[in-house]
Amino acid sequence: MPSYRYPVPPASEITPRNIFLNRRSFITGGASAIALAASGVNVLAQDQDARKLNAVASALSTDEAQNSYEDITTYNNFYEFGVDKSDPARYANQLTTDPWTIKVGGLVNNPREVGIEELLTGYDLEERVYRLRCVEGWSMVIPWVGISLASLIDKFDVQGSAKYVAFETLERPSEMPGQRAIFPVLPWPYVEGLRMDEAKHPLTILAVGLYGEVLPKQNGAPVRLVVPWKYGFKSIKSIVAINFVEEEPTATWHKQAPREYGFYSNVNPNVDHPRWSQKTERRIGGGLFNQRIDTQMFNGYEEQVGSLYENMDLTKFF
Ligand code: MTE
Repeated sequence: MPSYRYPVPPASEITPRNIFLNRRSFITGGASAIALAASGVNVLAQDQDARKLNAVASALSTDEAQNSYEDITTYNNFYEFGVDKSDPARYANQLTTDPWTIKVGGLVNNPREVGIEELLTGYDLEERVYRLRCVEGWSMVIPWVGISLASLIDKFDVQGSAKYVAFETLERPSEMPGQRAIFPVLPWPYVEGLRMDEAKHPLTILAVGLYGEVLPKQNGAPVRLVVPWKYGFKSIKSIVAINFVEEEPTATWHKQAPREYGFYSNVNPNVDHPRWSQKTERRIGGGLFNQRIDTQMFNGYEEQVGSLYENMDLTKFF
């Protein structure tokens, strides 16, 4: 992955004021927001006025300073639109997200293809402010809007033999320039997977928005995974298929470079990437004199997720 080269002003200075104010109002909306949430909410809205989502603040959020909307939507990794950090913001508008369906299958008693709106009906949206630590050494703090993946899994009546969940991104070269390249940088479609207990962990969410609005296309509209204790590449974007399976599924970066990227990909400052250290990170938006900060075990979520890996050698299962 290309490395960081992008000095930007401090996040606090460039968070657009209207977005900041919006955010305050939807969080303080409290109980009334719950009543309005998810059912009938339009996560595909293109029109600016309709993009606002009602969400309740989650107790699982970090209270660290959030990156600006600008940072979060202009410095992205979404190789389907190019490898440069600015490519997704430039090209993702080509993507048609409405209509959008997700095929849910594998070891479930009621496999089906379901529209995104139907999939979300009945859920309350939550705001989850999480750290996202990219394997390349930078990080951001992002106020996602989403639902817990666990609640969705319950809806599909998964069979006992399912041990993993496999996810797949859209493959549509006509709208994704990176998928048209003669020498593709990655095998398409982008795929990822989680062990069932990771998928059902309360920190794991499907995000449909950020900063109180429908997810921008460069961030993986209309729905992407967010697993905050793992390196950013596990958080697969623009999901079109979810399969429950018995064997460990393929994961794109693991397949591409198995020595460099393991299936687990837990943030771990004690296990270096073969070509660079993972001990520190640079928070995007910290300005020119931005100091690197220490990367925390499991990206700071050790208390919540450490027990999932208790008897595993993390140098082997990285
Ligand atoms: N999902 C798809 N389909 N394609 C990608 O290239 N990049 C991953 C992940 N999800 C990627 C993807 C990587 S490397 C990171 S760091 C995060 O998305 C970045 O998410 P963000 O752009 O919303 O910050």
